Amino acid sequence: MTSHKWPRAALALTPTPLQYLPRLSSETGVDFWLKREDLSGDIGLGGNKVRKLEFLLGEALANGATHVLTTGGPQSNHARATAAAAARLGLACVLVLAGREPGSREGNLLLDQLFGAEVRFPGAVTELDQARCLAEAAAAIEAAGGQPYVVPIGGSTPLGTLGSCECYEEIAASAPGADWLCCATGTGGTHAGLVLGALRAAASAGRPAAAGAAAAAGAAAAAAAPAPRIQAFSVWQPATWLEPVTRELVTGAARLLALTLPEPPPLEIDDRYLAPRYGKASPAGLAAISLLARLEGVVLDHVYTGKAMAGVLDYIRQGIIRRGERVVFVHTGGAPAIFAAEAVRQI
Ligand SMILES: Cc1ncc(COP(=O)(O)O)c(C=O)c1O
Repeated sequence: MTSHKWPRAALALTPTPLQYLPRLSSETGVDFWLKREDLSGDIGLGGNKVRKLEFLLGEALANGATHVLTTGGPQSNHARATAAAAARLGLACVLVLAGREPGSREGNLLLDQLFGAEVRFPGAVTELDQARCLAEAAAAIEAAGGQPYVVPIGGSTPLGTLGSCECYEEIAASAPGADWLCCATGTGGTHAGLVLGALRAAASAGRPAAAGAAAAAGAAAAAAAPAPRIQAFSVWQPATWLEPVTRELVTGAARLLALTLPEPPPLEIDDRYLAPRYGKASPAGLAAISLLARLEGVVLDHVYTGKAMAGVLDYIRQGIIRRGERVVFVHTGGAPAIFAAEAVRQI
């Protein structure tokens, strides 16, 4: 496992299952597996954020926090997972969400309320606004004698990234021959952790860094199993924006592990399946949701996993992912968002 050096809040039920999808495999001609990060725990309906929160809220508890604060969109999975984790740990939770107060509480917002979080809509529009509102809320708590702990958007910090690094380690242990590891990326932490895990495994096996077909082919000659190609599909920001952010997370988390990176970490981010925009369903994403539901009874969402799966299916159609290759899709969760009325109208 990544490390026992950091204080951890016990939140996740790991290792998460790695599940073979027989009907999707025969439909697509590839060997299709799901890493069920959506089943990462009994708190807050799981998802990829739980692993990050184990590290982040571990730090919060060690610092004597009384309140945990975070931000995101009104249907933020991260905010919902944070609210649930705070409830489990007995911390007060304040969610400073973007935009205007919606008329009704649905999907994740309903769950936020159920978990006892205080939900605020101060009218922030940009990410910068959100960060400022979060800092103001934290300062007010401190002035009143509380001890706030702020989780940045998406929980994507070097410390949070260590959680997803462990996800890679689990995959490598249970699916050593994977050719592809695919995931949705938003704030970059999940992808960064997977890349870090691959780099760390490569370093300890003494083979070239992972990611990219060429690297994988080179690694095949080494004694250890070749590294999978790690492909992230951006659903929030353009790849040009996300790449330096993700690189920074990999580098920062590597520093925490005292891991020397042989070169700038290789990142593969494809933003072509993001349209029409973040949070809005795409026809290909909806088709992917429907395919997984009808063939495997698995629920994807329209914001993250549906669009990433649309990318994977398109890669297969185009022959980028070849017949017979083994694909592990990291199911990062997000299903609660599909029960919001706005999503129901789109799906
Ligand atoms: C369901 C789901 N999948 C993927 C992601 C992307 O994770 P990250 O922000 O670590 O890139 C998120 C982020 O909120 C999410 O909620």
